[in-house]
Amino acid sequence: MKFKIMTAGLLALCLGAGVVFAAGEPQAERQALMKKIGGSMGELGAIAKGQKPYDAATVKTALTTISASAKDFPNHFPAGSETGMETAASPAIWQNMDDFKAKSMKLSSDADTVLASMPADQAAVGQAMQTLGADCGTCHQAYRLKR
Ligand code: HEC
Repeated sequence: MKFKIMTAGLLALCLGAGVVFAAGEPQAERQALMKKIGGSMGELGAIAKGQKPYDAATVKTALTTISASAKDFPNHFPAGSETGMETAASPAIWQNMDDFKAKSMKLSSDADTVLASMPADQAAVGQAMQTLGADCGTCHQAYRLKR
């Protein structure tokens, strides 16, 4: 009897894990978040370079997207997702998870800080990009494999 219940429990666990996995591979989810971050930086870059006119709503959306995506990003590195789906995540992430999370949170909070003082013209957007861009570089250097 006891054995039967345990087997049923195990089966439920396995099925549950299967559902989570099918809902979205963690590698794909985190890559999608980075694509969003990259796209938002592109929007800011176009304004900073003067390719597009300054637009407060665009700047706000981009900064909000970067903040939210960077906050969520470290949640998509479960054990077992170290390889596969052409991930460029370095194994160093799993050896330094706290530092990795801190770097992601720094990008998020830097985006919040920039948002709080809302860049009001082209030059200010350029400055904001330098602040945020440094966060990209620091983390990529430590935790993103070169392909
Ligand atoms: C906390 C670390 C971290 C920070 C901060 C970070 N990245 Fe990333 N980024 C990564 C990792 C790790 C990958 C590889 C993810 C994978 O392939 O599983 C990646 C991948 C990418 C990719 C490729 C996504 C794809 O198509 O697979 C882009 C684009 C990108 N990052 C842009 C940025 C930009 C722009 C910033 C700064 C605004 C930034 N990243 C900040 C860690 C970071």
